[in-house]
This record gives sequence, structure tokens and C-alpha cells, in this order.
Amino acid sequence: MSETAKIILDGKEYELPVVVGSENEKAVDISKLRAQSGYITYDDGYGNTGSCKSDVTFIDGEKGILRYRGIDIAEVAEKSHFLETAYLIIWGKLPNEQEKEQFDELIRRHELLHENMKHHFQGFPPQAAPMAVLSAMINSMSCFHSHLYDIDEPEKFMEATAKLLAKVRTIAAFSYKHSIGEPIVYPARNLNYSENFLHMMFDAPNHPYELDPEVVRAMDLLFILHADHEQNCSTSTVRMVGSSEANLFTSVAAGVSALWGRLHGGANQAVLGMLQGIHDRGDSIDTVIAKVKDKDSKFRLMGFGHRVYKNFDPRAKIIKEACDKVLKKLGRKDPLLDIAKELEQAALKDSYFVERKLYPNVDFYSGIIMRAIGIPLNMFTVIFAIGRMPGWIANWKEVHESPQARIYRPRQIYTGPTQQSYDEARKKA
Ligand code: SDX
Repeated sequence: MSETAKIILDGKEYELPVVVGSENEKAVDISKLRAQSGYITYDDGYGNTGSCKSDVTFIDGEKGILRYRGIDIAEVAEKSHFLETAYLIIWGKLPNEQEKEQFDELIRRHELLHENMKHHFQGFPPQAAPMAVLSAMINSMSCFHSHLYDIDEPEKFMEATAKLLAKVRTIAAFSYKHSIGEPIVYPARNLNYSENFLHMMFDAPNHPYELDPEVVRAMDLLFILHADHEQNCSTSTVRMVGSSEANLFTSVAAGVSALWGRLHGGANQAVLGMLQGIHDRGDSIDTVIAKVKDKDSKFRLMGFGHRVYKNFDPRAKIIKEACDKVLKKLGRKDPLLDIAKELEQAALKDSYFVERKLYPNVDFYSGIIMRAIGIPLNMFTVIFAIGRMPGWIANWKEVHESPQARIYRPRQIYTGPTQQSYDEARKKA
């Protein structure tokens, strides 16, 4: 006998089914509640609301667990590489040798932009925000690939997916070169995904960029760790836009816009700005912690806290270890890493953070690695977007393929003025 939930409204009892997921997460299914009772539920910010069922990623925030298609993030980070992880997230299985070769080849085939797209970069001012450029250029892919609006056939979906994964790097690198007034660098034939991204970003006609395997590995690791994260703000945005049957390119462009916010993907840039400010002012750790606890200061410890993780974000742990490795390999020290570690130690012992279960999240250390690689600060969130591309595509695919596919259209509780005539309203003007 499956579990149910009983609710009494206006003296009448309603029995609602309980949905149980493969990891025993439970939810009260309220899809018939309004029809039966006239009531809806209210959950500002959706903190307690499941918008969908999904097979892609599982998070247990209390235990600090993150799994892509059932595989623990630490194992994926250690044993996989980004394109293979993307395949796993999108198609739900690790590719066999033949699938891997075909997918790699498909990515190579689609890594160039349509030459006409280059002119778009001329239209942006050099100091244009990279996330604005990225969202605009991904949206403009809808102008160049209209044959991929309707992608019901697997081959068409595969082509659209390859175009997005391949070109998002090229767009990011071309926009960076445009912003510094250097000639764009085309992808090279014999480089893998992350090597080619670094090549396009940092090579130049008069000074070839030497690929350091440790730096390439760190870049690939960052992409893997950002690849999906269940129903975060940007992924839910992609699902919302995709639910109207908008094409994949424009749905993903909307996800880029949602990721830009400093409470979401923009946090990695905000963390570096925060650490740099602490360093430049010579603030003590105690001063910073006191500022965080002083509500009037409006100061947030960026890179800390998470809507779901009430324990360590497993990605933060992996990135923190990688920071030490990359800096050691490059023979560099970064005072901002030392400050970050001291802040973490202080926060984990402070009741304000302990009571609110605030731990470092993926953004707390990722900027340190990006800085070590040479990524400019204003492109940190672009790196996050390149990494998150597989998760956006996989979630859009789920919406597109769902047999119960219907447009996402939440309800609301209206709190505005009750009925009034125009003349009554005019009198109040
Ligand atoms: C990402 O959803 C995802 O999965 C996102 C992500 C992904 O992979 O897609 O993991 C990536 O976006 C990570 C989060 C990056 N953002 C930041 O690091 C920004 C700083 N963190 C916060 O602003 C905050 O923690 C959020 C936005 C991440 C979560 O916000 P919630 O769940 O709405 O929590 P809240 O704002 O209601 O905070 C609860 C309490 C409040 O204090 P009280 O009112 O109870 O006294 O905790 C406090 C908050 O003031 N708090 C913080 C804090 N985060 C929460 N106080 C100081 N510093 C912080 N960072």
C-alpha cells in the first residue's frame, strides 16, 4: 500500500499521493489539489517544491552527496574527462570506445563559428560583459541553425548538442580576444576539448601558448565539477523556457542569463573580489567574520552557503585540493588562497555559520584556480557556463521528451488591490 498524505481544508479531508524517488526522497503530489479543494500551495523561492522528476543528478544536501547518473562526483572527477562526463549527463550512460570517438569527432566538426558570427563581436564594445556576449551569441545560434529548432530525431539532437558544447568555448575565447584587441585564434585540429579552449584563449601569432598538462587537467576538472547540479536557478530556467517548446539554443541562452547573477554563477567572481578587497585592506579574519554577522553591513561571505547543501559542497573540497596542486606545479603562491583557507577555518568554528549550516560552496575556491590558469576575473562565470552546458542540455532534453510535457506555468497568491473602477483609481493619482 503506497504512502499517502492527508490534509484537512475547510473541515474537509483530502488524501494526496506520495511520490518516492529512487533515492527514497519523498514528495506530496499536489497536482490534483486545486481541482479537488480550490487551494494551491505557496513556497516562495521553491525551497520545498519539486518542479519535476529527473534522472540526471542526485544531491543529498545533508550528507554532501553529488552524483551524475548515480556516479559519485569524486569518482567522475578522478576517472573521467569533460566530454565523457557531458556524454554521461546528456545520454545517461558512459560512451563506449566507438561512441567516444564519434562524439569527439562531432565536437571537432562543430567547433568553428559561422564566419558571419565573427562580425557580431565587432558590434560589442570591448568592455562588454562577457556573460552578456555569451548569452547573445548563443541565442544568435538560433539564427544560424534554424534547421535544428525541431530536434525530435536523435541525429538532430546530437548535432544541436555538439554545436553548443563545441561552440560555447569558441564564443568565449573569441569574445575574450576581442575584448583585449588581439586577433582571434581558431581551434587547432589535434587538441582535446580543454586544450583547445586554452589554446584559443591564450595562444597568439607572436607568442605560442605552451599547454601545461597540469593546467589542462585543472581546466577540465573545473568543467567536470560544474557540469550539472539538478534544479539550480539556471537549469530550472532552461527547463522553464524549453517547456514552451522554444528551441535548445534560446533555452540555453536564458540559462546563461540566470547564471550571471551574483547569488548563482556570478558568485565565483564576487568571491575573488571579496578576497582581493580583504587582502588590499589588510582586514583581519575576525573583522571579516564580524562584518558578516552584522546584518546592517549587508556583507555576505560570497562562496559560502547553499540552498541545498547543509554540509560541505563536495565540489568545494575537490577544488580546494586542486588549488594546492596547480599552484605548487606552477611554482606559485596566492595570498588569496591563504585568506580563503583562514576564512573557512574561522567560519567552521563560528556559531553564526554552524547554526545556519553555511559551508564553502563550489564558488569559494574555483576562482583561485581560474586565476592561476590565467582566466580574467570577468570571465569566471563564463567558465561556469561552459561547464554547465551538459546539465542544461540534459534537462532540456528531459522536458522535451517527457510524455507528460506541458508548459511550466506556476500559480500565485494575488496580494494587489481588490477590484476598483478606473475613476476610483484616477482619484488616488
Ligand atoms: C551556486 O542551486 C545550486 O545548485 C547552485 C550551484 C550550482 O551548481 O548550480 O551550486 C552554484 O550558485 C552556489 C551558490 C553561490 N552563491 C554564493 O556563494 C552567494 C553567497 N551565498 C548566499 O547568498 C546564499 O547562501 C545562497 C544564495 C547560496 C542560498 O541562499 P538561501 O538558501 O536563500 O539562504 P538564505 O539567504 O535564506 O540564508 C539563510 C540564512 C540567512 O540568515 P538569517 O536571515 O537566518 O539570519 O543564512 C544567511 C542568511 O543571511 N546566509 C549567509 C550567507 N548565506 C546565507 N550569511 C552570510 N554569508 C552568506 N554567504
